[in-house]
Amino acid sequence: MTGHAWDRVPIDAQSIDAPLSQAAIFLVVTVSDGEEALAKVRDMLGGLDDLVKTVGFRDLSARLSCIAGIGSDLWGRLGEPNRPRELKPFAPIEGNPHRAPATPGDILFHIRAERPDICFEFERILLQTLGSAMTVTDEVSGFRYFDARDLLGFVDGTANPAGREIGESALVGDEDPEFAGGSYVVVQKYLHDLAAWGRTSTALQEEIIGRTKIDNIELDDDAAPRKSHKTLATIVDEDGNEHDILRDNMPFGRPGHGEFGTYFIGYTRYLWVIEKMLERMFVGEPKGAYDRILDFSTAQTGISFFAPSRSTLAKLASSS
Ligand code: HEM
Repeated sequence: MTGHAWDRVPIDAQSIDAPLSQAAIFLVVTVSDGEEALAKVRDMLGGLDDLVKTVGFRDLSARLSCIAGIGSDLWGRLGEPNRPRELKPFAPIEGNPHRAPATPGDILFHIRAERPDICFEFERILLQTLGSAMTVTDEVSGFRYFDARDLLGFVDGTANPAGREIGESALVGDEDPEFAGGSYVVVQKYLHDLAAWGRTSTALQEEIIGRTKIDNIELDDDAAPRKSHKTLATIVDEDGNEHDILRDNMPFGRPGHGEFGTYFIGYTRYLWVIEKMLERMFVGEPKGAYDRILDFSTAQTGISFFAPSRSTLAKLASSS
């Protein structure tokens, strides 16, 4: 695997390594046509850190952070001649029987804090600043659920990289020096059929996920007829290197409307790693042996972004 030459690259990543928070808002917007809208977007990108400070200072213990991810089309519109090597629109997957659709979105704001009101306040002011320069295409408020469990009842996030491994898995390194310190971000909003999941035995649920439900112990599925979610999401390249990604999935829902969801968000150094995970989940490994988590979870959205380093973000903000 190519290493990181931290002494040669600008290490000014956005707050990708912020700890898992109690609350998050996933906001996806599309930018309106025309130069005026682009100018507003540039201003907003240039002022994002200041806005985090302005709102976050009102309660520093709430640790407000916001990451901005830029979609492939908008990157082109912002007039920056070079682009991150792998940046391209989300490639939809037609699996059988489950599909991963691609949906619109120019900017992702991943807003995290220990308090939902701080996330809300930040989003409110951000949208006010952008005004008619954009349209909101998706907005999800997530909450941390008990022991970091998803709504399927399993602890979610255990295998995440920690410490130094975060940079290795989630940040571009010297394989693309101009964009080092950036991160590819893929989001998918899933809705669960909790009634059907509830009718499934705990033993089968554990087989599907690849971990025990109560105490979160990893299960060996080498001899199992179908691979578990955790195994399908484990990517090993030709040289035997395992490629992790950094996830911060959040539950969301409106029980009164029968809505129960997981907002998947993955940060990765190499976009192909998440693409490979999705292919293994939706097409199956071998083909047809898809991820049975999908029998209970439907992908509603699918969008890829690039969250550039702070210095690249500043360049995008000032280019025209
Ligand atoms: C319905 C949506 C999803 C749910 C509820 C879910 C839940 C889980 C759970 C419970 C685990 C085991 C604990 C852990 O290590 O976090 C896990 C592992 C994992 N998931 Fe997901 N997941 C979802 C979608 C995805 C998607 C779309 C991807 C990637 C494209 C993904 C990638 C991973 C990875 C990389 C692991 C760790 C595998 C390992 O190394 O052990 N997940 N997920």
